[in-house]
Amino acid sequence: NMSSEGAEPIRVVVTGAAGQIAYSLLYQIASGAVFGPNQPVYLHLLDIAPMMGVLEGVVMELADCALPLLAGVLPTAKPEEAFKDVVAAFLVGAMPRKEGMERKDLLAANVRIFKEQGQALDKVARKDVKVLVVGNPANTNALICSKYAPSIPKENFTAMTRLDQNRAQSQLAAKIGVPVQNVKNVIIWGNHSSTQFPDASNAVVTVGGAQKPVPAAINDDAYLKSTFVTTVQKRGAAVIAARKMSSALSAAKAASDHMRDWFLGSGDRWVSMGVVSDGSYGTPRDVVFSFPVTTANGKWKIVQGLTINDFARQMLDATGKELAEEKQEAMDVCKD
Ligand code: NAD
Ligand code: LMR
Repeated sequence: NMSSEGAEPIRVVVTGAAGQIAYSLLYQIASGAVFGPNQPVYLHLLDIAPMMGVLEGVVMELADCALPLLAGVLPTAKPEEAFKDVVAAFLVGAMPRKEGMERKDLLAANVRIFKEQGQALDKVARKDVKVLVVGNPANTNALICSKYAPSIPKENFTAMTRLDQNRAQSQLAAKIGVPVQNVKNVIIWGNHSSTQFPDASNAVVTVGGAQKPVPAAINDDAYLKSTFVTTVQKRGAAVIAARKMSSALSAAKAASDHMRDWFLGSGDRWVSMGVVSDGSYGTPRDVVFSFPVTTANGKWKIVQGLTINDFARQMLDATGKELAEEKQEAMDVCKD
């Protein structure tokens, strides 16, 4: 691969590297789908000590992929080794929920991981590291991680709602009968939980060469306010009920999409990311809330000026309230 010759490798960490999401994600990162086809990567793989044997097998498989962009691999159980000098961190490692649980039921078990990893990032990571939290409850974990890494700007901590966005876009495309990329600017507001608000009111679709608002193309307000919303809210649970394990292939794809757009830019599309709220759209400040953003030059910016009708207001308030409660609970857990 002549084109990648000479470019310096960047260091990228994936936590939970022996788990099921990582199993799909590592290939995407190492094959160039995230940081571009000319950017070599040095992968840092963090998991817990009992998983080091399994992780060794993943390292063997990465070698056996014979990928030209993979400059090296560092498997470790030590956060301070894993986070050293990384420019991007995929924080996946955490317990997944089982059938019948809500994601916030994982809070007590998982939030301590993000306190500890925030502290390690604060010590050894580059101050411009871009952090994507995937482990659930993702929004609140990202907030805690940021709180324990005060030397890194809070804009650098994000939570993944891209899977919800991809689910929403796919539902709308199927309903209208167009390829998925013809739909853009669907928004996920709030928490990556069953209170999230998938919002198609500003989405647009290309049909027969012309752009149309999605609400006009679908012409079924009841569908957009009920079936569409609940299908996306409950999709993670539906996958768990069917697979007996939580989504992994689609979660890894969404994590790649999120980080790629953050590094390389979102172009003329809005994307949804959980970011530390500045109070935009009357949301609670200082919780990690998913907003529509555009990204350029490695920075995200919340899309401003959208109209929030009464229905949307209620939905935003409900998910904001849940995030404020989760934050309180997480701060209590972190005290001891
Ligand atoms: P998994 O159980 O297959 O893998 C998790 C891995 O993390 C395991 O190998 C485990 O040993 C490791 N781990 C646990 N504690 C760790 C620590 N302190 N440091 C490093 N590694 C640690 O789970 P999975 O299916 O890969 O899911 C991982 C997480 O992602 C879960 O919390 C799941 O709910 C969440 N998830 C989020 C989204 C989203 O859209 N935000 C989507 C899917 C899954
Ligand atoms: C998902 O949305 O699929 C993940 O967050 C896993 C889950 O628990 O639903």
